[in-house]
Amino acid sequence: MNTQGLSDTAALLLADDKGLLAMDESNATCNKMFAKLGIPQTIESRRAYRELLVTTPCLGDAISGVILYDETIRQTNSDGTPMAEAIIARGLVLGIKVDTGAMNLAGHPGEKVTEGLDGLRSRLADYADMGARFAKWRAVFAIGAGLPSSACIEANAHALARYAALCQEAGMVPVVEPEVLMQGNHSIERSFEITDHVLRTVFDHLHAQGVSFEGMILKPSMVLPGSSALSQEPLEKVADATVRCLLRSVPAAVPGIAFLSGGQTGELASSRLNEMNVRFRSRLPWQLTFSFARAIQNPALAIWQGQDSHIKAAQQALYRRAICNQAARRGEYDANMERNSAEAQLSLA
Ligand code: G3H
Repeated sequence: MNTQGLSDTAALLLADDKGLLAMDESNATCNKMFAKLGIPQTIESRRAYRELLVTTPCLGDAISGVILYDETIRQTNSDGTPMAEAIIARGLVLGIKVDTGAMNLAGHPGEKVTEGLDGLRSRLADYADMGARFAKWRAVFAIGAGLPSSACIEANAHALARYAALCQEAGMVPVVEPEVLMQGNHSIERSFEITDHVLRTVFDHLHAQGVSFEGMILKPSMVLPGSSALSQEPLEKVADATVRCLLRSVPAAVPGIAFLSGGQTGELASSRLNEMNVRFRSRLPWQLTFSFARAIQNPALAIWQGQDSHIKAAQQALYRRAICNQAARRGEYDANMERNSAEAQLSLA
């Protein structure tokens, strides 16, 4: 394993307070988003949308790397350039989602196990040939009565560790994503307890599989109350709970923690990341960054609506969300930036 090479890639992904743009929705998820907005659910619409995202002018100001879905990494831009090549040429690090989805866990109603280990070694070699330098695998944990079960936590943690080891063998940085889902009416304390248990188990398995912590990035959920809980907590409480939970379970050798947004609004996801960095940035062992999909893309998608004439405005919205999240990494985010800060304006000529 080339541990120095892995650390170098991880450092590149974390440099200059930039973050990751997750644009790796499966076709089914992407089609659902399109259907809500009346956009045709076709391979060409998905390609055109992904082209819009990756050709956003100045995207690299705030985004270090992008995570693609298998369909996209094999597509070309409208000028015929392979999408992967165009991304790399713009100075963005190419990443790829390599799990094949979360399936029902046998014997455990309401729980999922993520699949994709079969044939992963050769798929990783193919993706590396296409220029990918990092790869993502997402496992999900629902909170409910008696959930998640230890069967679910163990099965997913084991798979995450096997995937991460294979990535590192292939010279790719694993972005390890154990997502504790927001859906439900649980308290923030329950979310803390489950996230703590999940992360400890994941790191036990990563250690057992010989994964180099220096050459990986953790992509967790924030510690939040359930989305239908009566009490939604203030920013300070979310920031405290999330950082306290991570400090208990994430080794200091891990260089970066890149949160998913999980269904939070863009503004809330940025405000919470910002609060963590305001309060703790100078005294944490790892960098706190973002690897958002919806919390970067949503305004752009809503503006685009499948219309070529909306591309420029959609790209401006994407750029603005990216810049807002970069500011949140620095602890300099202000919700006014969403609307009128000169800093968040895209100088699209
Ligand atoms: O797998 C999920 C994505 O990588 C993150 O998506 O920020 O919309 O939760 P999200």
